[in-house]
Amino acid sequence: MPRRLAPGLFALCVLFAPAAPLSAQDSHRGAPAAVDAGLVLPRTPADLAAGAQLFQVHCALCHGAKGEGGKGPTLAVPALPRAADDPALLRLIAQGIGGTEMPASKLGAAEIAQVAAFVRALGRLPVEPVPGDPARGAHLFATKGGCTACHTVAGRGGAFGPDLTRIGQRRSAGYLRRALLEPAADLPQSATPYRSDVSLPENFLFVRAVLRDGRTLAGVRLNEDAFSLQLREASGRIHSVFKADLAALHKDRGFSPMPAYGDLLAPAEIDDVVAFLVSLRRP
Ligand code: HEC
Ligand code: HEC
Repeated sequence: MPRRLAPGLFALCVLFAPAAPLSAQDSHRGAPAAVDAGLVLPRTPADLAAGAQLFQVHCALCHGAKGEGGKGPTLAVPALPRAADDPALLRLIAQGIGGTEMPASKLGAAEIAQVAAFVRALGRLPVEPVPGDPARGAHLFATKGGCTACHTVAGRGGAFGPDLTRIGQRRSAGYLRRALLEPAADLPQSATPYRSDVSLPENFLFVRAVLRDGRTLAGVRLNEDAFSLQLREASGRIHSVFKADLAALHKDRGFSPMPAYGDLLAPAEIDDVVAFLVSLRRP
């Protein structure tokens, strides 16, 4: 039974509204359920079983069947950085995290409370350790790996690939390992079909623009509208072209310009780089 929106929560919605085009889009399909900040999480075995089932259907795709993580971060940890307490967890599930792949939920308030209770139960399971040495990984990142050519961490590095400053908070260790071994396996993008088609920073799309004079510009799409396109070459140079000037425009969906590191780094070095990436989170 949805309760009335608490005044504090209402203020929060207003605060987040301009930064969250995704939630605005989602609201066409039904507004996120209101969550009462004072709600206590249900604890009966029946509620936990219902929560587990809802989690499999609505969350496991990104967070793993046991909350071990995947495209979304590991939830089987004692403290969630984004959800310090239960009201914060309920709000986060109901509203999603604006501007990220974490969607607003279409579940009702009682179901959200059951899923939240299940997420907290996952947090009581033992955490899987990540092998590897983060300090060695940081060194490899800047040297042999050549990662800084394309990625920024804490304001330093290239901008061809996504900013990795807080990547350990967004992705699980398993996902990060796969990103290194099979870069094309899971390109960062939204699950919303609408967003995979518009130009947002997390929707990486490799494009090749063939100009009428025969030259080809290849890089990551930054922006696109009906008449023009902006792309960033691997060198970092940004080009803006009018579509009328193009002989052809190829969109290489599913192609990753990032090298597969299984051939370039030893298995122990991959472990070190993964440990470094996992350590990149807000203190
Ligand atoms: C389409 C993928 C996707 C789905 C489906 C999804 N999540 Fe997420 N979730 C994410 C991502 C990605 C993040 C991290 C966002 C960021 O920080 O950039 C996240 C973050 C979170 C966080 C914050 C974790 C932290 O470290 O504090 C919680 C809690 C969470 N999700 C719970 C859920 C629950 C519960 C469901 C199901 C009702 C769900 N998510 C469904 C992708 C997803
Ligand atoms: C030639 C440029 C290039 C190099 C070099 C490169 N990357 Fe990438 N990387 C990209 C691009 C572009 C993407 C986004 C699209 C994709 O996955 O292909 C990406 C994606 C990623 C992702 C996934 C990010 C997410 O949000 O899902 C991780 C993690 C990553 N890179 C880590 C690394 C590490 C670690 C190295 C060095 C060992 C490295 N990259 C080297 C270009 C590069």
